[in-house]
Amino acid sequence: MTEAESPLVEASPTRDATLAASDVVLETVGVTKSYGAVVVLRGIDMQLRRGEVLGLVGDNGAGKSTLVKILCGFQPPDTGKIYVEGKEVSFRSVADARRFGIETVYQDLALVPQLTVAQNLFLNRELTLFGGVGWLSAGKMRQLAKNYLEDIKVEIPDIDAEAESLSGGQRQAIAVARATRQNAKILLLDEPLAAMGARESALIVDLVKDLSRNLGVSMIVIDHNYTHLFELCDRLNVIQQGRIAFDQQVQDTSVEELTKFMVSQYRRELAAGQKLLEQ
Ligand SMILES: Nc1ncnc2c1ncn2[C@@H]1O[C@H](COP(=O)(O)OP(=O)(O)OP(=O)(O)O)[C@@H](O)[C@H]1O
Ligand SMILES: [Mg+2]
Repeated sequence: MTEAESPLVEASPTRDATLAASDVVLETVGVTKSYGAVVVLRGIDMQLRRGEVLGLVGDNGAGKSTLVKILCGFQPPDTGKIYVEGKEVSFRSVADARRFGIETVYQDLALVPQLTVAQNLFLNRELTLFGGVGWLSAGKMRQLAKNYLEDIKVEIPDIDAEAESLSGGQRQAIAVARATRQNAKILLLDEPLAAMGARESALIVDLVKDLSRNLGVSMIVIDHNYTHLFELCDRLNVIQQGRIAFDQQVQDTSVEELTKFMVSQYRRELAAGQKLLEQ
């Protein structure tokens, strides 16, 4: 079989009719997004099931973060539909998406640098702690933040330190901790392990697995490291040329197969470029 005939190379897989509708917590149909003349997403059809960890793969600039920013209400799609638990939604803000149980760790906006570790952990959260009434005292907030970080085994030397004085990995750990301590139904993690050492990576991997297995939280995880992805995920999707071009359960594929798929696309692009030059 040639690479072009490979069963992995399918453009935009259609919705799986055999799937129980109630299993799908998040779905996109035909989501598109351009920035000026740059067309990034050409029609994303994606499904995320309850308790599933879905890995999102793609080259730099493929549109992974763009998709996450649409799913968390940070920016609207140009066209296409988003469904949460079967209901069509149209988010006007991140707070709007949060009301549907969607929490996000952004690749590039992890923490507010001028706030302390404790303040960052409780950002936008004070009211939810007491069901919408009361004010959370600074002392109480510090204690809760400390306990929480201890619970999930994240080691930060000083809870009163400003985020800008932390290392990249420590910041990322706080951002993941913040997202996971909400009662999120859907977690979007944009490169949660980037800038993390082996110990912190293992910790986040354990946290993600625990949340999906024991609490039924569904997650989309973006990572360029295939070893991480195979350890973390139940299923993998690749974004190529603005569409989902690969959709496999991890047990049905391998690092080798995924690498081959990514490289074959690169070769096709190279060949297409060569052809253009020759014309
Ligand atoms: N706010 C913006 N304005 C203009 N162009 C943008 C904007 N955000 C993203 N882009 C462009 O959209 C494309 C996709 O970017 P995106 O950040 O989604 O890629 P990515 O798949 O997350 O890449 P990486 O793996 O490097 O993080 C890129 O070409 C980028 O330059
Ligand atoms: Mg990105």
